[in-house]
Amino acid sequence: MLAIIGGTGLYELDGLHEVREESVVTPWGPPSGPLVLGRLADQPVVFLARHGVRHAIAPHEINFRANLWALREAGARAIVGVGAVGGIAPEPAEGGIAVPDQLIDYTWGRPATFFEGPESPVEHIDFTWPYTEALRRRLLAAAVHAGVDAVDGGCYGATQGPRLETAAEIARLERDGCTLVGMTGMPEAALARELGIDYACCAVVVNRAAGKNDGGEVSLDTIWQNLSQGMDNVRAIIGALFAVEHTDEG
Ligand code: HPA
Repeated sequence: MLAIIGGTGLYELDGLHEVREESVVTPWGPPSGPLVLGRLADQPVVFLARHGVRHAIAPHEINFRANLWALREAGARAIVGVGAVGGIAPEPAEGGIAVPDQLIDYTWGRPATFFEGPESPVEHIDFTWPYTEALRRRLLAAAVHAGVDAVDGGCYGATQGPRLETAAEIARLERDGCTLVGMTGMPEAALARELGIDYACCAVVVNRAAGKNDGGEVSLDTIWQNLSQGMDNVRAIIGALFAVEHTDEG
C-alpha cells in the first residue's frame, strides 16, 4: 500500500473514498495525528499529516519514529513524503516541484533511528541513495501524466528550523551541493529505509532560500501564496500516481 505524508499546506487528500480514521499508538509514542485510510482510483492509500491536523507540530517536535512505525503497521510499503522547501538552485521556480535524488542532513538532536536501546542490536543501513529510484520514477511519471513540470533530481538539505536560514548558511549549503532546503526531510527518509519501506520526496518550492532573492528577506506572505499554487501541483501529481504504470513498490 502507498502512503502519503502531507507537509505544510497538505492536510488531507482529495478524492479519497471509503475513508476511515485510525488513531494509533506505537512503541515510540503517538504519531502526528490519526491515520486516514481510504481508496484513491480504487487503490488503498493511507495519509498522515506530518505537522498534525491543525499544523501545531514544529519540524523539530515531529515524532518521526512514531509516524513511520504507524504507517508500516497500517500496511504501507511505499511512502511519498510531500514537503515545502526553499529553492537554492534557480529551478524549480516558486510553486514548482522537485523530486530530489540526494540529501544532506544538518538536523541535530532528533531521534533518528529505531536501532537503539538495550534490546536492539546495532544495525547500519546502506543510505548511498536515500530515495527509492523506482518510486522517484513513478512520481516523475505521474507529474508528466498530470501535466506538471517537475525537476528530476537535486539535493535536499535538511535543516533544523523552525527558523529559516541565514544567507551565509544557504551559501554554505549551496557550496555543499544542496539545491533545496527544508526542515522535515530527515530523519524521515532514513527511518523509512530502516523499516525497509520505499521512500521518495515530492518537494514543493515555496520561496527562494535566504539570500537568493536579490538580497531581499524571505517573505512569509509570498510563501503562503506559493504554497497554494504548489499544493495544487502536488494534488494533481498524487491523483495521477495511480494512473501511471508501476512495479511492485506501491
Ligand atoms: N528553508 C527551510 N525550510 C523551508 C524553507 C526554507 O527556505 N521554505 C520552506 N521550508
